[in-house]
Amino acid sequence: MTNRRTPRRPLRVLFLSSEAHPLIKTGGLGEISGALPLALRELGADVRLLIPGYPEVLARLEDAKPVHRFARRHGFPECTLLSAEIPGGVPAFIIESASLYRRPGSPYVDDEGQDWPDNARRFGLLSRIGAILAGKSSPLRWRPQIAHCNDWHTGLTPAYLHFMSGPRAATVMSIHNAAFQGVFPPTTVRELGLPATSFQVDGVEYYGSLSFLKAGLFYADRITTVSPTYAEEIQSAPLGFGLQGLLAGRARVLSGIVNGIDTAVWNPARDSLVAAKFSASDLSGKAANKRALQEAMGLDTDPGVPLLGMVSRITEQKGTDLVIEAAGAMLALPAQIAILGSGDHALERALIAYARAHPGKAAVQIGFHEGLAHLIEAGADIFLMPSRFEPCGLNQMYSQLYGTPPVAHATGGLVDTIVDCTPGSLAEGTATGFLFRDATADDLASTVALAVDLYRQPETWRRIQLAGMVRDFSWRASARRYLELYQSLVA
Ligand code: ADP
Ligand code: GLC
Repeated sequence: MTNRRTPRRPLRVLFLSSEAHPLIKTGGLGEISGALPLALRELGADVRLLIPGYPEVLARLEDAKPVHRFARRHGFPECTLLSAEIPGGVPAFIIESASLYRRPGSPYVDDEGQDWPDNARRFGLLSRIGAILAGKSSPLRWRPQIAHCNDWHTGLTPAYLHFMSGPRAATVMSIHNAAFQGVFPPTTVRELGLPATSFQVDGVEYYGSLSFLKAGLFYADRITTVSPTYAEEIQSAPLGFGLQGLLAGRARVLSGIVNGIDTAVWNPARDSLVAAKFSASDLSGKAANKRALQEAMGLDTDPGVPLLGMVSRITEQKGTDLVIEAAGAMLALPAQIAILGSGDHALERALIAYARAHPGKAAVQIGFHEGLAHLIEAGADIFLMPSRFEPCGLNQMYSQLYGTPPVAHATGGLVDTIVDCTPGSLAEGTATGFLFRDATADDLASTVALAVDLYRQPETWRRIQLAGMVRDFSWRASARRYLELYQSLVA
């Protein structure tokens, strides 16, 4: 018997996303869509990205070459498919359409925070081109075996593919946030070139409207989400946001794979965006970062007072309102609070007003600042993540690696990535943070008080910090799980 191994040809995967670091990023989705394709390529898969040609993307890929021109079809304008390589080495296809994508500002909303009125066509086009590239009549020689769709913007790809004849790629639909579903009026079905027969419960219809996410969840071969706990939570109300029935019905093809993080970017020993580097073997740099953070945000430069940090979208999902409500009790411990974020304008105003009324004790910076985000992770003593729900969350992982134990609501990926401090975990030396059960200001404040108590016991605190700093949050294990999932689909 011969035992010669035939070398496996690399698995071909088209990874569809509305954002990907370092081309464009508004949050976790962009971060994941930058890092996961890279990690999968390191495992030998031939992963290529498909993304809309926003101005930022085109500016960063100046040498992108046109590879195909798609004619006007249904409600879609003509567009050009470009090909380029992203810094880091992932090949990308970019859809260039001046009328749909070339506009300043956010990929999703206008300056007032309102959804762009043509979002159905903007992301319908992304979904449709994805389906064409994954189907029999692709104009490209490169044919993916898997189309991996991410969030509602790419949810129509499995639906389009379902109605195409001939061989096609298998589909994976990943949910990064089930609260965002891409719901549009029924007339959109025709405009986007979906067959009228698709508009039914066993199809793309959702309570009388067209839902991109529902379409993806209904037609995809496999469904994933970004943590095992969230995969459970979305199968019932309220976190299924109306999709719980469908998700529970497809539980056999639904799994949760926790996100990794980019440990080259988020490493306190190598981080050039912080005031002083530090590591698990020498934490002394944390004090310099704390001082730099207090100075940068106009807080009293007191080395002894516990400093609570937060970096997030400012929304109800992230529990910003709970922080405002609990702020009085937390400052009274005493403690300081430093918050960076942007989002809901009313919540932003409330935060600013609170900080103005408590100068030197509470500080808020509205906006998106990579550097300040790193400094908060490095300079704060305790990180706040009171999210009402959190599919995975990334900052709690960064904060553990930066010796800044998180205080978080026990939900979704926060449960899967933080080892709650209990008498048992404390004794074993495995505790890395603090989870509270109810998303209320009282629970948040009392858990912060518990954390501050332990902060006052330097030896115990040091053990909690170190247990977090040495954890492996890299993509290696999770990328392997995606690869196994892909392989099970092509087998
Ligand atoms: P979500 O995607 O739901 O917003 P995640 O925790 O998955 O939440 O990811 C958010 C990412 O965006 C993190 O990397 C976080 O550091 C970053 N981020 C959020 N707000 C800001 C901000 N105002 N400035 C800099 N980075 C931010
Ligand atoms: C979403 C979720 C967040 C998750 C991110 C990346 O934005 O809100 O929890 O970490 O996607 O998967």
